Amino acid sequence: MDAKHLGDELSVVLHTEAELHARLAELAREIEADYADEPPLLVGVLKGAVMVMADLARELRFHAQMDWMAVSSYGAGTKSSGVVKILKDLDSDITDRDVLIVEDIIDSGLTLHWLKENLESRGARSVRICTMLRKPDAMKVDLEVAYNGFDIPVDFVVGYGLDYAEDYRNLRDVAILAPHVYGGEG
Ligand code: XMP
Ligand code: MG
Repeated sequence: MDAKHLGDELSVVLHTEAELHARLAELAREIEADYADEPPLLVGVLKGAVMVMADLARELRFHAQMDWMAVSSYGAGTKSSGVVKILKDLDSDITDRDVLIVEDIIDSGLTLHWLKENLESRGARSVRICTMLRKPDAMKVDLEVAYNGFDIPVDFVVGYGLDYAEDYRNLRDVAILAPHVYGGEG
């Protein structure tokens, strides 16, 4: 589905599918160079990272093994609290493995901060983060992001895996949701 199919539900398209793919290709070249000795295990965070994972993994010129986790952040309302519950754990043993977490978006950074420490505590050799999007002005923790697609403003965005009430994940582009859709101002 493209932005044009959604009428006035989106206010601005931030990054088109072509831009996302071009940026992922650049990141893939960096990842290939950094992991020249041994490919990392890609760990996708469900459900948002499905699109990034599919495109990044196919862009990489090495055997890209994939595993998945689903986590939920406890806390009031929609804001991340940093207290995370594992809903679906990895299938693989990551002892002595290089792990690359693949994520759709980093907002406060609390979820990934917790996840990175959790994976490190299992004896991974290294744990790095690759995210398609990051909201630098929303970050609440110091989080090293090795591979970042784009920095975006602190708006609620949808598309390319990101949802509002489970809709919009299959939008090809990343766009700011129009406030009237979620009952906000505008
Ligand atoms: P934290 O704050 O822990 O949260 O970095 C990251 C998670 O919050 C969700 N998130 C969003 N989802 N549009 C979305 O559809 C957004 O603009 C947005 N900002 C944060 C997302 O699940 C992410 O993994
Ligand atoms: Mg997510």
